[in-house]
Amino acid sequence: MTNFPHELIFLKLGGSLITEKDKPHTARCERIRALAQAVARALSECPHIRLLLGHGSGSFGHVEAAKYGTRRGVHTAEEWRGFAEVWRAAQSLNRLVMDALHDAGVPAVAFPPSAGVLASDGKIAHWDEKPLAAALNAGLVAVTYGDVAFDTSRGGTIVSTEEVFAYLAPVLKPRRILIAGEEPGVWADYPKRTRVIPLITPKDAPELNSVLGGSAATDVTGGMFSKVQAMLALVKMLPSTEVLIFGGTPAENIHAAICGASLGTKILNAMPTA
Ligand code: IPE
Repeated sequence: MTNFPHELIFLKLGGSLITEKDKPHTARCERIRALAQAVARALSECPHIRLLLGHGSGSFGHVEAAKYGTRRGVHTAEEWRGFAEVWRAAQSLNRLVMDALHDAGVPAVAFPPSAGVLASDGKIAHWDEKPLAAALNAGLVAVTYGDVAFDTSRGGTIVSTEEVFAYLAPVLKPRRILIAGEEPGVWADYPKRTRVIPLITPKDAPELNSVLGGSAATDVTGGMFSKVQAMLALVKMLPSTEVLIFGGTPAENIHAAICGASLGTKILNAMPTA
């Protein structure tokens, strides 16, 4: 069931790309439409590709999540109310993404982590991936997103799209993981932002701390530094998977990246041999 004769890709549309990160609950509807159309075009031109599409929460989930401290744990009635509010915010953005995908002709089905993930101390411990794998095998686009999740020690928590990808990658073994955001890649000189790092491998990890800034707006799941660290851990575990962190605008970039273009910053397990 989890063996793909096709090329499997995980693609994340970052919260900063699809929402106005500083304006609570404001989606970039035009942009979501353009991105959905780019996905549709790529899949019709590259029919051998199977796609797990994830999206962030941006100014939808992060605002409530920060207000109630949901990622740290959920215990009181007030915190559980907050958990439900974060769920609703994340789900309402997902609705917009699903509608845009369907309007563009993409046969997409959503797999919300809140319905299936069990976390343990903030880390995904269990998620039955079989229904999602069946959707991919059937040629459907499986969609997931940063969401609330039940947690055996914290009560509840938040899982980011990258954490969902990191959990699913060893099972589904994607060839490429594409992380599209507002920025054209990982900046070598944040916050000056004049130079994008073309390639990062695990041996660069010690220097990254000083180079990478956090994210400017409210981001309960850690900003760029933690995203790069998570992807480095992933390529170490799965050396034949490559990761791209790149800009999702213009939407044409999404089409190009799905169909194989190298954009932004590449994260690999080792330097390619010449
Ligand atoms: C965050 O998910 C989830 C919530 C706050 C509910 P992500 O970490 O994947 O989202 P972005 O890309 O930072 O917005």
